[in-house]
Parts: sequence; C-alpha cells; structure tokens
Amino acid sequence: MRRIGQGRTAEIYEYPSNQIMKLYHADFPAEAVQNEFRITKAVFQKGLLVPQARLFMDDEPRKGIVFERIEGNTMLALMIQESGLIEELSRQMAVCHHSLHAQQDDEGILPTQKQILTGAIQNTSLLSEEEKTKVIHYMACLPERKQICHGDFHPDNVMLNETRDQYWVIDWMTGMSGDPAGDVARSWVILMSGTLPSDTDPTVHRGFELARNIMLDHYIQHYIQISGISRQELEAWILPVAAARLDERLPAVEADQLIKLVQDRIRLL
Ligand SMILES: Nc1ncnc2c1ncn2[C@@H]1O[C@H](COP(=O)(O)OP(=O)(O)O)[C@@H](O)[C@H]1O
Ligand SMILES: [Mg+2]
Repeated sequence: MRRIGQGRTAEIYEYPSNQIMKLYHADFPAEAVQNEFRITKAVFQKGLLVPQARLFMDDEPRKGIVFERIEGNTMLALMIQESGLIEELSRQMAVCHHSLHAQQDDEGILPTQKQILTGAIQNTSLLSEEEKTKVIHYMACLPERKQICHGDFHPDNVMLNETRDQYWVIDWMTGMSGDPAGDVARSWVILMSGTLPSDTDPTVHRGFELARNIMLDHYIQHYIQISGISRQELEAWILPVAAARLDERLPAVEADQLIKLVQDRIRLL
C-alpha cells in the first residue's frame, strides 16, 4: 500500500475502493483508536462533513481504521504552498469550526469537555498538585454546554477539495461535547504554541512560522464575528485548555512555553 500521509499518531495509506487506512503506531492504545472510530461515526450520522469511518481493524501490533478517502489537501498544506491564501483560509477555518458547534450532542454519546480536561490536568506530571487543584477548581465556574467540539481543531485536520468550496474535518479521536469557546481556546493554544515535527522540511517550517500569527488573528477574529461569542468568553478557557495540553508528550520547547503560560495565569486568579 502506498503511504499518502503522516501525523503524530498514525500513518495514512491508500486503500482499495477510494478509501484510506489510518494505521496507528504500534504503542498506541486500542481504546483511543476505538474512540476515534465511534466518535467519527457518531458525528457523521449527525450530518457533519467528516469522512465516513468504515472498518475498525483490531490487528496486532498495529490497529487501523478504514475511512472514505477525501480528494483534496489539508488547509495547512494549502497555506504553506500558497501564502497568499492564508487569510482567506483562516477565515474559512472559523466558518468550518463554527459549523461543527451548531450541532449538539443531545444523546450524550460524546465524553464531556470538563471530564476530558480534568482527566488530562490530573494526569500531567508537568504541574504541581497545588497548581492542578487551582485550575480544576477554576474550571468549575466555566459554562457547561453540549455542543459538538472537535478537541484538536487546527489546519492539518481540515481538508479542502480542489475548488476550495467544500471541506471535511478529520481526526476525531478527541471529539467531545462542551462549550465552543473552550474548543476555540484550544485551537488558539495550538496555533500559538504548536510546532511541526522536527524532521519537517525547513521551507515548510518557515512557511508555518509566517502563517502562525496571520492564522491566529484572522481565525479568532472571524470566529468571534460569526458566532457572537466574546473574546472574554474565549479567554476564560485558555488556562484549563493549556494545562490539559501538558498531558500530550509535547516537544520540550512547547511544554516550557505552556507551563509558563499556565503559571502566569494561575497567579492572576
Ligand atoms: N480520509 C482521508 N482522506 C484523505 N487523506 C486523509 C484522510 N485522513 C487523513 N488524511 C491525511 O493524513 C494526514 C494525517 O491524518 P490524521 O487523521 O490527522 O492523523 P493524525 O491523528 O496522526 O494527525 C492528514 O493530514 C491528511 O493529509
Ligand atoms: Mg491530525
């Protein structure tokens, strides 16, 4: 099978009949793969634009999922190929993200945002017990909602067709129900601090650094404009979301930056 893509969790291979196989790294927990399969199916059934998840392959040592193949490019690839498109694509990212948030998880199929964030904060070894307690206590005051949230929404998880008028959101392992402001705050944290894998081509690295601030400005501003959400509502989620991200085996530079952000914000509580 020909490899057509690579992420941090898996490799993507061509698969017969216009499908792809997402093959997870050998040490990846089966439960997380099952979650991705289940959540992708659930949001597909709600009519969201996501690739259909067709088959869960419980093979040892590597688990896999067969998905419908999307013909197109990721937003990140397009931004790097053509920097003139970054502003327009960032606004489109906001429209796409907002369209997910228009749906609710009334059936309670998805895990809740506060459950997920609390678990991750408790699990990180990069904060003290006292810091964790403060963040979790603070989060209790934030809104509890049931909107569909992606949990890892960034331009490498959105694909566009050739004519750029149709998009699909991929990579639903972290899907949850919650407050959209928290989901956007998470994207803010990723865009602000995220780095590409160390073996990425240097020109792509430069393209990404250029794109980062333009993306942040245009995506956030446009999301606020179309959703009616306030900047304060969004800001309020940054502390718990950044603290929870510390549970993700981040490269040291990213982790150091986030620890500082979390500690600064705890001091302001
Ligand atoms: N259904 C799909 N159709 C076509 N390409 C895909 C599909 N799913 C993933 N890809 C490609 O593989 C890459 C990694 O997939 P993703 O699900 O985001 O994996 P990871 O969890 O490792 O980030 C994507 O950025 C995209 O280029
Ligand atoms: Mg991905």
